[in-house]
Amino acid sequence: MSDGPRGGLAPSRPIAIVLVAAVAENGVIGRDNALPWRLKSDLRRLRARTWGKPIVMGRKTFQSVGRPLPGRTNIVVTRDRDFSASGVVVAPDLRTALETARGDALRRGADAIAIMGGAAIYAETLPIADRLDLTLVKGCPEGNVRFPSIDPQTWREVERSEHKAEAGDAVDFAFITYERVARD
Ligand SMILES: NC(=O)c1ccc[n+]([C@@H]2O[C@H](COP(=O)([O-])OP(=O)(O)OC[C@H]3O[C@@H](n4cnc5c(N)ncnc54)[C@H](OP(=O)(O)O)[C@@H]3O)[C@@H](O)[C@H]2O)c1
Repeated sequence: MSDGPRGGLAPSRPIAIVLVAAVAENGVIGRDNALPWRLKSDLRRLRARTWGKPIVMGRKTFQSVGRPLPGRTNIVVTRDRDFSASGVVVAPDLRTALETARGDALRRGADAIAIMGGAAIYAETLPIADRLDLTLVKGCPEGNVRFPSIDPQTWREVERSEHKAEAGDAVDFAFITYERVARD
């Protein structure tokens, strides 16, 4: 088995590690363990992008969502050995979470593992991610957690679509996909 968070995950076929996040123009992704905006279009996109895939999230994000998301294997990372919640797989570290996710993706025939945050988990997985599926939320809300900075030497924008707020959206937004051009 090799070292690192991908250790033991030598791909028989590629399974991408994809960070899925909604990020405001100032980098904010959350406030007081909740989302600082109401954006139904983003929730719809999140569902479509992650359906049928393993999703990995930190314990705080799981508690913020409040329930396992249906149609996906929910893997929650926590150092709390006593943590349990119905309908989720609990992992004691990121490496275990990714190994579990990879096994699940192979069983499901899924082509990606979706990393669903929050800030701590995004920061830890950005160095090994293959793709970033971001919703750029227009505006600069106050918040206490941010997405890590996206180095243009490492990440190339490959897709962008601009959208006006629709019913259930508080603000305009853009869907942006980045692909890795270089390892950090
Ligand atoms: N805008 C978005 O797309 C988006 C997406 C997701 C979340 N969010 C927001 O982000 C905020 C939550 O983010 P956060 O950074 O505070 O928390 P988080 O990343 O969701 O969870 C952090 C927790 O995960 C566990 N953890 C992290 N790294 C670990 C590791 N290497 N090994 C084992 N456990 C590990 C720890 O849990 P224990 O303390 O239990 O050990 C840690 O306290 C909320 O405001 C939420 O709404 C926004």
